[in-house]
Amino acid sequence: MKIKDLEFQPFISKSKIQHKVRELAEQIAEDYSDKTPVFLPVLNGAFIFAAELIKQIEVPCKVSFVKVSSYMGTHSSGQLKTLIGLEESLFNQHIIIVEDIIDTGLTLKKLVDDLNGLGAKSVEVVALLRKLPARENNIPAKYVGFEIEKEFVLGYGLDYDGLGRNLKEIYKADA
Ligand code: IMP
Ligand code: MG
Repeated sequence: MKIKDLEFQPFISKSKIQHKVRELAEQIAEDYSDKTPVFLPVLNGAFIFAAELIKQIEVPCKVSFVKVSSYMGTHSSGQLKTLIGLEESLFNQHIIIVEDIIDTGLTLKKLVDDLNGLGAKSVEVVALLRKLPARENNIPAKYVGFEIEKEFVLGYGLDYDGLGRNLKEIYKADA
């Protein structure tokens, strides 16, 4: 499959994704059975993963969304400027950040720091995918779907230059 200048091959099938999402949901439901977590999907990439994950979690929970500006990872800009659209106070809440993929993890690290600065009671991360650089940088994520190498992937919410988010499976770019 060709998207713009890149050729992509099927990588993680629809059924593998579904199975993994169910596993993650069960694990989170168990860990948070006596809490009311606030899920915080990171837009845009996490929208499909977050929807499918959260609808399978049967503990009371809340959902709020954040959009993280792209320069956030490299600039230590003002804390609240990086969180767009936060509607409720996260003070004293158990937050679960929902990410599509962690690459270098710089975006996530900054977000976790910001949330701790806002007085969250706990901050954990669920990511569908985690790439090699995140493991090398010791970026903590409590719940990880698939550990992958340094490949560029798309589909299931993930894009290449805005395209491919609607694909039901995950594809990877030819090296
Ligand atoms: P990080 O700050 O390097 O961890 O970058 C994380 C963000 O970059 C993710 O939330 C994605 O939006 C995007 N990203 C990283 N790797 C990929 C990929 O392989 N495909 C599509 N988007 C990616
Ligand atoms: Mg993202």
